[in-house]
Amino acid sequence: MAKVKTAFFCQNCGAQSPKWLGRCNSCGQWNTFVEEVIQREEKAGVGFALNNRRSTTPIKISDVTYDHEARIIIPDQELNRVLGGGLVPGSLVLIGGEPGIGKSTLMLQVALKCGDQKVLYISGEESEQQIRMRAERLGIVNENCYILTETNTQSIYQHLEGLKPDIIIADSIQTLQTDLIESSAGSVSQIKECAAEMQKYSKITNTPVFLIGHITKDGSLAGPKVLEHMVDTVLQFEGDRNYGYRILRSLKNRFGSTSELGIYEMNDSGLREVTNPSEILLSQRDEEVSGTAIAAMMEGQRPMLIETQALVSSAVYGTPQRSTTGFDVRRLNMLLAVLEKRSGFRLGHKDVFLNIAGGIKVEDPAIDLAVVAAVLSSNQDSPIGSKSCFAAEVGLSGEIRPINHIEQRITEADKLGFERIFISRYNTKGLDFKRFSIQIVTTGKIEEVYRKLFS
Ligand code: TYD
Ligand code: MG
Repeated sequence: MAKVKTAFFCQNCGAQSPKWLGRCNSCGQWNTFVEEVIQREEKAGVGFALNNRRSTTPIKISDVTYDHEARIIIPDQELNRVLGGGLVPGSLVLIGGEPGIGKSTLMLQVALKCGDQKVLYISGEESEQQIRMRAERLGIVNENCYILTETNTQSIYQHLEGLKPDIIIADSIQTLQTDLIESSAGSVSQIKECAAEMQKYSKITNTPVFLIGHITKDGSLAGPKVLEHMVDTVLQFEGDRNYGYRILRSLKNRFGSTSELGIYEMNDSGLREVTNPSEILLSQRDEEVSGTAIAAMMEGQRPMLIETQALVSSAVYGTPQRSTTGFDVRRLNMLLAVLEKRSGFRLGHKDVFLNIAGGIKVEDPAIDLAVVAAVLSSNQDSPIGSKSCFAAEVGLSGEIRPINHIEQRITEADKLGFERIFISRYNTKGLDFKRFSIQIVTTGKIEEVYRKLFS
């Protein structure tokens, strides 16, 4: 075992200690000490990246040249968009997600689709046979895709030197292990050190590397924040296991916007790119039912229409229940309070359940008006009609507030054949009503919306 000097550092205040402490002496926090490498012995041939240091000199920023067209375009439009227009050479991309959500499937699919690049898929989780079986299931044949089932980074580097892949995928960072540290695979110091080695390799050889990372129960990437600082891009793969839809979200991106989003559908033969999200998020039905309203929302830079479903019924117990799926329950409580106090709807003694169709989570405040409309429709037991949609925020005084990207939302609703859209009266600046064939209903108060919908 190589000799390395390690010490324990408090993740809260940075205090150093030669041994692990339960409670930090300087800041008093519990359980914050983590082992870190402070000095490693650099033996010849220990790691490819480690003994290949470039020496650099200060240079004027204007003299630095780079290639504009350098991005590698992956044959997966959703991933390209989330990465900010293709994969940047020499970048380190972390893909996080809960177990079983489809990270391995997504990355294997990418590896198989990149026909003209030499891709190395390093797996510490599955055997060659299992990966081959998965590849058969995905139904893509690629002669240029290599598989390596190895977890020791030093032997991985030896293979990398021989193979010289164009793209590397490591599944997962938690299974990698370096000889430089004695702790077991998956520990914070191992994860950090392996990621650092990968980063060095990627920067020196200009090879893009995807690292797959598991997410802990509380939703953060295992190996806390350390990894997020090191990598160039952090993508999160999420979705409700009970539905087929998966969302790839960018949490950090040094080379693009973080508001981009990719949508996939998991089916029998892998993940299908969903190019028109609205069609899957609107439930198809012929008869009109009460309690549903369609919202024109934005996910990142993309407008999409989504169905909100509400059920209002008399409370069985003394305390009425309020429960939501895909929507913040506190926000629902606020909207109910506004309905009660400002507009005089008696909902205080009613149970209210709210559900966003398709199992996706919505944070866009523009969905407020649709939520209110769905609640009113269910309370009233009269349907709104599937040709109406809503895009506005609701304020504390019951006013209908303007939102951003209104034109994009109206265009999307128009394109999908909706007949009328309810927006805020204060949202019409610069809006050319004649451009759209959809009827634009402007409103200022909840009562107005109510009157237009139900009388
Ligand atoms: P996987 O990629 O192994 O998840 P992760 O690497 O994030 O842990 O995905 C596993 C799930 O995906 C599994 O429950 C089966 C499902 N799946 C399909 O539905 N269709 C497919 O074609 C494949 C390959 C997997
Ligand atoms: Mg996996």
